[in-house]
Amino acid sequence: MSPRGRVSSLLPDFPWDTIASVKVRAAAHPGGIVDLSVGTPVDPVDPLIRTALNSVAAVPGYPTTHGTPELRAAAVDALKRRYGITGLEPAAVLPAIGTKELIAGLPRLLGLGAGDLVVIPEVAYPTYEVGALLAGAQVLRADGLTRLGPQTPALIYVNSPSNPTGRVLGVEHLRKVVAFARERGAIVASDECYLGLTWEGRALSLLDPEVCDGDHTNLLAVHSLSKTSNLASYRAGFVAGDPALVAELLEVRKHAGMMVPFPIQAAMTAALSDDAHEARQRERYRARRDVLRKALEAAGFRVDHSEAGLYLWSTRGEPCRTTLDWLADRGILAAPGDFYGPGASEHVRIALTATDERIAAAAERLAAG
Ligand SMILES: Cc1ncc(COP(=O)(O)O)c(C=O)c1O
Repeated sequence: MSPRGRVSSLLPDFPWDTIASVKVRAAAHPGGIVDLSVGTPVDPVDPLIRTALNSVAAVPGYPTTHGTPELRAAAVDALKRRYGITGLEPAAVLPAIGTKELIAGLPRLLGLGAGDLVVIPEVAYPTYEVGALLAGAQVLRADGLTRLGPQTPALIYVNSPSNPTGRVLGVEHLRKVVAFARERGAIVASDECYLGLTWEGRALSLLDPEVCDGDHTNLLAVHSLSKTSNLASYRAGFVAGDPALVAELLEVRKHAGMMVPFPIQAAMTAALSDDAHEARQRERYRARRDVLRKALEAAGFRVDHSEAGLYLWSTRGEPCRTTLDWLADRGILAAPGDFYGPGASEHVRIALTATDERIAAAAERLAAG
């Protein structure tokens, strides 16, 4: 062990361990478990993407950290086509080995350390906090900028649409974050993992000209292909935005060998160049969402936010662990709200990432009372 102690002791307990016994209970259901606790894709990777992966499977050399020119051009084009992002140069795109590793390393890669403040959403994907703690920085959970008072954060995370709540931030909110960050010299990192999975209203990228007026200075958008293209197993994502920040991240990641495997780069290029498979996947989730949402509401749940993303942020107005037990008795496993922050103790996060058959089974069990 390191003479300085265990790095893991800086981090919170791994939350999934705390629902192991509930999982056993759900798995005991005669019809089998319906595991809606994690947002892992279940539908096969599109043949178009598999073909692209295979087509370069014989290439033996090292890939570049910056990614192929084709990949970066495909990312720029996809961001423009899908989300209206303009003014992005291919040089300002950097592939990541899935975005979780990028987020967990980002504060450190940006040079943050003790004395720096990282602002994360009050109810948040846990890796924002993990990355800040690994860098030795302080963490503040705040949805509104007034909570910050006179403090100057080094990095502000936004996550719209949100995991776990499915909440979408409006253009005015995002513009305020950008204006505040510009005033105080903070970097804004926008995790846009679920931007392509919006059910109601409109979700905007941080790099949308309506949000940033076309100025990407100090702004980073983090994009995962895990959910929109079913590529969680491939580990495929990228960050884009401020050319100077991306160049700095590239410089450090080059030294550290943080490169996306070449066949995955080819797969990403194909995925980013095709919107049809993404649209088909979105419609699968939309159908599952309709079934599950109706069943939850009929069973007395209230679904909050959830206008986008892969989760139904649900409550029965009781402690989330009680709801977790209630669902487990019906063979359904959800994630407790308390995984995501102290302010979420009465919600459970119910994922849409199960097969049609499992979603139908969950709906049937909910209807049976
Ligand atoms: C909000 C959010 N960001 C990032 C990720 C990480 O995705 P990946 O590492 O698969 O790109 C997830 C995965 O669930 C997520 O929910």
